[in-house]
Amino acid sequence: MDFKGKIRSIKDFPKEGINFRDITTVLKDKEAFRECILQMAEQLRNKNIDVIVGPEARGFLIGAPLAYELGVGFVPVRKPGKLPSDTISFEYELEYGTDKLEMHKDAITKGQRVAVIDDLLATGGTALSTCKMIEQLGGVVVSVGFFIELEDINGKGVLQDYDVFSIVKFQ
Ligand code: PRP
Ligand code: ADE
Repeated sequence: MDFKGKIRSIKDFPKEGINFRDITTVLKDKEAFRECILQMAEQLRNKNIDVIVGPEARGFLIGAPLAYELGVGFVPVRKPGKLPSDTISFEYELEYGTDKLEMHKDAITKGQRVAVIDDLLATGGTALSTCKMIEQLGGVVVSVGFFIELEDINGKGVLQDYDVFSIVKFQ
């Protein structure tokens, strides 16, 4: 599957200098969407995953169908103030200022084998924060997977303690 030909690239969105990799053109294509999920599933099938954790919002679009395909549960990581029950949170540095993500405290049980899934790896800040929260709850991060990896930003370095995979790599 020519995923690179299907991912739309938009220069200077949401701000100058960013080449935005838009997956909506993959999601609306029934064959490409299915193939994306199946290729990601192949990376995880022999890993005994109990649950997939995906960050808002695009992590839901890939993580939830992947969990369904693997026959495991799905746990959302959300921006602050969205989850209704008791949460843990993790604050991380951005280029300017900080950002924060939250997860339900009872979302993961001790010893559960977890895969963190998102659409795209850039700096790795979102995925690393997600891994830290899972570990705080006693979960084991078995794999961290992305549909797209932006290799020049080196998010893989930030995630060096984890087993990371991606399907499509952009330089
Ligand atoms: C994007 C993307 C990843 C994250 C990657 O989400 O979906 O979650 O950025 O960047 P990082 O590796 O530098 O952390 P965004 O925060 O734009 O939110 P969205 O999914 O709600 O659009
Ligand atoms: N999230 C962070 N960087 C991105 C990019 N270049 N395209 C799409 N989503 C992103």
